Amino acid sequence: MRVIEKISDLKAVIRSQKLSGKIIGFVPTMGYLHEGHISLVKASKDENDFTIMSIFVNPTQFGPNEDFEKYPRDMARDSKMAEEAGVDIIFAPTREEMYPDSYKTYIEVEDITGVLCGKTRPGHFKGVTTVVAKLFNIVEPDKAYFGQKDAQQVIVIKKMVRDLNMNLEVVICPIIREYDGLAMSSRNSYLSTGERKAAVILSKSLFEAKELIKNGERDASKLIKYISERISTVDFAEIDYVEITDAENLEEVEMINGKVLIALAVRFGKTRLIDNVVVEV
Ligand code: PAJ
Repeated sequence: MRVIEKISDLKAVIRSQKLSGKIIGFVPTMGYLHEGHISLVKASKDENDFTIMSIFVNPTQFGPNEDFEKYPRDMARDSKMAEEAGVDIIFAPTREEMYPDSYKTYIEVEDITGVLCGKTRPGHFKGVTTVVAKLFNIVEPDKAYFGQKDAQQVIVIKKMVRDLNMNLEVVICPIIREYDGLAMSSRNSYLSTGERKAAVILSKSLFEAKELIKNGERDASKLIKYISERISTVDFAEIDYVEITDAENLEEVEMINGKVLIALAVRFGKTRLIDNVVVEV
């Protein structure tokens, strides 16, 4: 496995791989890898000849008061995990390589970026789509792998790919969870022991809501109330949002019908966690 920092070096390797007919899979990440990221690598290895992972803590997707500076970073550990998982190349550019001082261009998907996480994190998705578009242009993958963990992110990226006629397939992989149900996240490392214990309520309440729907509940506001009340029973939890939307267009729904997304964001101390389930009736 090689770690490449320069865009020009990466492009040269990719050109030669493509010339020899290799199908390229791409896994974009911000590093501090866990089994969620590795599941994307596994999917890419199953479906492609050559797998590239990017590790870049993208400054443009963090708000001014967010955790860009203290976002966990450990390149040595990440390299080891990526190599063991069979990644062929890690692309780890510097900030200057991706955003030189003269940088001026941004990509913005409208409407669906203003709801859910977009409400509390204005500008976040503009940063995500900009960096992902740049990475797609640099890597020119046949397939790119994203986790359902970031449900809104996958919808926004799919929309960008469709709207801009980007020449690749976006593959969505299921959420990987800890033994107790907590969705894996690099940010889980911020949690104190007490917060970590409390955070299990997120997946628990989502699974319970899914069960309620299975048993016939169709009223979205009742389900939201149920989840919010369950979360409010634990220490540390401060709800950012609990919402039920159409799973495709992220429009709020009143009644559960078809495929819906139940999504939430909750703060435990300084740590903001997200989770979701998709339910189809
Ligand atoms: P990051 O949070 O590092 O996540 C990288 C990829 O791993 C994303 O597609 C994310 O959805 C997926 N992922 C994270 N936790 C997961 C889990 N528990 N199960 C399954 N997949 C999981 O998302 C980003 O980085 C950035 O926004 C990025 C797309 C790299 C752009 O900067």
